[in-house]
Amino acid sequence: MDDKKKQATVLRKELENHNHQYYVLDNPVVSDYEFDSLYQKLLQLELDNPSLVDKYSPTQRVGAEPLAAFSSVDHLSPMLSLGNVFNSEQFADFYKRAKQTINASNIDFFGEPKLDGLAISLVYEDGNLVRAVTRGNGKKGEDVTHNARTIKSIPLTLTALSPPSLLEVRGEIYIEKAQFQALNQRQKAGDKKTFVNSRNAAAGALRQLDPKVAASRPLTICCYGISRIENHASPATQKDSLQLLKSFGFRVSEDTVLLKDEKECVLYFEELAAKRQSLAYDIDGVVFKVNRISDQKLMGAVAKAPRWAVAFKFAAEEARTLVRAIDLQVGRTGVLTPVARLQPVFVGGATVTNATLHNFEEVARKDIRVGDTVIVRRAGDVIPEVVKVLFELRPPDALRYEMPNELPDIALEQLIKKVIHFVSKKALDIDGLGDKLIAQLVKQKYVVGFSDLFHLKKERLLLLERLGSKSADKILSAITSSKRTTFRRLIYGIGIPGVGEETAARLTDAFDSIEKMQSGTIEQFEKIPDIGTVVSQSILDWFSKAENIEELTQLLSAGLVIEKSYDDERIINFVCVITGSFDSMTRSAIAQNLNEIGIRTSNTVSKSVDFLVCGDSPGSKLEKANELGIKVIYQGELIRLLDEKTISKKAIRAFFEGK
Ligand code: IVH
Repeated sequence: MDDKKKQATVLRKELENHNHQYYVLDNPVVSDYEFDSLYQKLLQLELDNPSLVDKYSPTQRVGAEPLAAFSSVDHLSPMLSLGNVFNSEQFADFYKRAKQTINASNIDFFGEPKLDGLAISLVYEDGNLVRAVTRGNGKKGEDVTHNARTIKSIPLTLTALSPPSLLEVRGEIYIEKAQFQALNQRQKAGDKKTFVNSRNAAAGALRQLDPKVAASRPLTICCYGISRIENHASPATQKDSLQLLKSFGFRVSEDTVLLKDEKECVLYFEELAAKRQSLAYDIDGVVFKVNRISDQKLMGAVAKAPRWAVAFKFAAEEARTLVRAIDLQVGRTGVLTPVARLQPVFVGGATVTNATLHNFEEVARKDIRVGDTVIVRRAGDVIPEVVKVLFELRPPDALRYEMPNELPDIALEQLIKKVIHFVSKKALDIDGLGDKLIAQLVKQKYVVGFSDLFHLKKERLLLLERLGSKSADKILSAITSSKRTTFRRLIYGIGIPGVGEETAARLTDAFDSIEKMQSGTIEQFEKIPDIGTVVSQSILDWFSKAENIEELTQLLSAGLVIEKSYDDERIINFVCVITGSFDSMTRSAIAQNLNEIGIRTSNTVSKSVDFLVCGDSPGSKLEKANELGIKVIYQGELIRLLDEKTISKKAIRAFFEGK
């Protein structure tokens, strides 16, 4: 070997070694500057001596010319995919089958992260990369050697003194999370389209005809199997395979582990699931492989997948599907919720056919139309929902959702009744909202759920028949003051079948909060005096309905303040009229103080008034009160009570009661 050739060989080895340190082991040993100067040296040497140029030189990773077209290549052996399991029961079945086939009481499994990228087959002849092929249909794939060569973590030559004459390696091409974000930032900065996810970006890069484009994308590889090895010792286990791959210079996962039994497998799955977010790369599950290759051979393969391996998938929380229709769903409380009828899709570990659209505003805001392709989300036990519309896929005839002009009659009647009950005196006690008004509000669809009451606007109220500005104001202020309510009133008001005033009182005494009640068990309900199995079941049913929970959520977000029930509810029904002037307080401040403890105030003295709060120069109201025999509280008594900062609301109530 002449000097120059030797020099080139040494430089290549050195550069490949630095590449390996940097891209495979994540452990660079020289600075970028040092690397570049070695690289330039080799480049110059090759330029000066064209006969020295070698296809496997690190300077030749990016070939000069783009391809005219891809060619299709037969795989040396079929590229199989993997069977999936989604829960530990399904995994247990798989494990049992493996034990039966191998006829062993226990089997070692090898656990690996399931990388979410694209499968590739790399073929090495006498230690040199000769071909890289995508999976394609499993039998034939596309020759992407020109692009694979640009991926620095793919060795162009194997590090082995006597490499196998033929080696076929299988692995996954992907882009790490951080690299993907940086890539998208560059796309944005260059006013170019960003990629939806790293898998798409990787797939796009691999399918470029021009290797320069692929070279500019941060692709990497992780190898997970040997499908052919000739003229070399064959590994006996999957673990050995990865060890051998590593010694040849391939990148293999650092998160693999040998698992001794089923329990260890499930634990490994849970561990990786917990670690998922913090990993540098995207994974969509865990792959379990029978560790001994001889056992793998014993188990063989079915049509498209080996029987000796399985993918234990994380439940995908989001999926894409089609909106077939938008319907109105009538809940038992009469709440109407628009729902999307979907083309069935497997997401979050279950098949989803419906997704709640929450309310009409939501449909309008997200602009969800029939015919749209949407992303649906279902995490754990959460109700499926539509995350967003993929507008670019909207067909021209997608129908905008029109709220039906006529709601189904029964639903209307049901809803009207529910709302009447909800605002009734023993429930939220919204004064001035009569049955006829409620019927109008419901029919005009201003109110489709309880919470809509709290979003009513004066302009809307004025559109109702026979409602003037003053009455509208009164109603709105009654609605506002009803926001501060008691647990007992709320539970009575929401209309759980079988839960009347008495039961509501018992229930709210037994539970500290609505959250606790919501998660109450049938045993807990049955323990409450006077509550039997039927009512307990009814309560349980009510809280298990998604639309009811949704209604409660909406109520709370509308600003409903739930206080634990007062010791004596009756006081809440007291109505006071305030008259005259007061030395140290305005009338409205007194009213506010009284309202706070649940005593309502009114302007007119009538039979239904319980107290007159009387200041100086009271006038005709005092006369009227005396006429009707209504009790009177004079300012001295009241102010003393209210001024007394230490005095509790309870004491004030007691005072009113005692009077
Ligand atoms: S083994 C015959 N191991 O998952 C064995 N595949 O759903 C087939 N994948 O096409 C593959 N990580 O692209 C294997 N550690 C891993 C993997 C893995 C990701 C991909 C691969 C395969 C697909 C099957």
